[in-house]
Amino acid sequence: MPEALRSVDFLPVPLYLRGKVRDIFALGDQLLIVVSDRISAFDVVFNELVPQKGVVLNSIAAFWFEKTRPIVANHVLSTDVATYPEGLSRYADRLAGRSMLVKKIDMLPAEFIVRGYLEGSALKEYRKSQTVGKIPMPAGLRQADRLPEPVFTPSTKEADGHDINISFAELQNLIGKELAESVREKSISLYKEASAYAAGKGIILADTKFEFGLDNGVLTVADELFTPDSSRFWELADYQPGRPQKSFDKQYLREWLESLDWDKNPPPPPLPDSVIAATAAKYREAYERLTGKTLP
Ligand SMILES: Nc1ncnc2c1ncn2[C@@H]1O[C@H](COP(=O)(O)OP(=O)(O)OP(=O)(O)O)[C@@H](O)[C@H]1O
Ligand SMILES: [Mg+2]
Repeated sequence: MPEALRSVDFLPVPLYLRGKVRDIFALGDQLLIVVSDRISAFDVVFNELVPQKGVVLNSIAAFWFEKTRPIVANHVLSTDVATYPEGLSRYADRLAGRSMLVKKIDMLPAEFIVRGYLEGSALKEYRKSQTVGKIPMPAGLRQADRLPEPVFTPSTKEADGHDINISFAELQNLIGKELAESVREKSISLYKEASAYAAGKGIILADTKFEFGLDNGVLTVADELFTPDSSRFWELADYQPGRPQKSFDKQYLREWLESLDWDKNPPPPPLPDSVIAATAAKYREAYERLTGKTLP
């Protein structure tokens, strides 16, 4: 197995941004997104790496970008290192499978969430006001229940990561009425397509976050798409509303962390090999179940 990748510090191009998991490079009007093997939980990045996790995340995103191209334009230019600019193909051994070259576009200043099930901040809102995204919901819904219809719940993009939910009217004020309407329509179509596909693979796509931008005025989906980092994936066979569901990828890690006496603030506790191995296997399984392909 190739070596796990902590951080991309070997490229002769300027770093654009380093997120919790991804290292992004600036290449003029393009970006190179590289997904590392770093893992975070409860917003804390661990010191250990999960081998091949970056390949899995990148390959899942690439799979969905390709599959949903008929619904909406996306930012992907290439996932083939041989076609990357500026001599980057020299780094193929470390970039292959875990990177994509994308168009740098004008990102819209919001995050676009679609929820098919009641969990997370939607569950909180529902318990307070019987609404989701300020839309009235039937009484008596339990945690993780399926919503009557997928609901579009945009939020702001806060620098500290604690995004604030906004109403559709607020979104219209932020990005304009027409654009808000097209983003909502595209978001719901994307969610419906992907959740139907995932259901066929025994996976519930409970909710997901999109980021959109404008590419010369054309609405374009960017960032990542239907990855376990941007979505809640649940095992259909274990699905039982009225309690939290097992998340496909990080459940093992989260349960192990809950068993510790750790306050979820840095520094993170060291992860034992067994937890890393189980987590790596789960990521692999997510990829294989969704795409029907096996990783090299
Ligand atoms: N095609 C694109 N053009 C321009 N910006 C993009 C494009 N795709 C993604 N982005 C932006 O790149 C950034 C990716 O950052 P990333 O998600 O890796 O880290 P983060 O959001 O700072 O932190 P976190 O690790 O918590 O997600 C986001 O701000 C996203 O909006
Ligand atoms: Mg992000």
